[in-house]
Amino acid sequence: MRQLFIASLLAAVPLLAHADAADDAIEAREGYMKMLSINMATLAGTAKGEIPFDQAAVTAAASNIEALSKYNTVPALFIPGSGPADGKETEALPAVWEKPEEFAAKYTAFQTAAAGAGEAVAGGQDALGPVLQKLGGACKACHDDFRKAD
Ligand code: HEC
Repeated sequence: MRQLFIASLLAAVPLLAHADAADDAIEAREGYMKMLSINMATLAGTAKGEIPFDQAAVTAAASNIEALSKYNTVPALFIPGSGPADGKETEALPAVWEKPEEFAAKYTAFQTAAAGAGEAVAGGQDALGPVLQKLGGACKACHDDFRKAD
């Protein structure tokens, strides 16, 4: 009875039975990165004066980045089989899979940079510069070694 109940629950979940796990992971990590950059754009645009200062918007953007940094991105989204060596179309370099510890360390550095970002921007427009520098430095440090140059 219980098994039947679970089976019927699972049947209701759209499981995407034919999707490729590697393709899903690539799509998800590109979306993840896009979310980071959308929020970074709010912070950078505000710091440059292109977007009128709005404390709530700035706090939301920095808090989003901080929340995203807690996602278990490295093992969950850069899964085996989802790299260029597997014939996948991705901007991730083979180094992601060849030097997994270094890649994980770059992600940890980003997590450290993002910790407290939501509160750190509470000090108004002048507070944005240092936060952006810290965050942007962590994005770049990883991209330099692990993402295809444009
Ligand atoms: C630990 C490494 C790492 C960190 C930290 C990191 N990225 Fe990335 N990023 C990557 C890799 C690898 C790719 C390529 C992903 C792919 O194409 O599969 C990427 C891709 C991207 C892309 C392109 C996404 C697309 O649509 O294809 C953007 C935009 C981006 N990152 C923004 C950011 C921003 C902004 C930050 C910092 C707030 C950041 N990244 C932090 C590794 C990282």
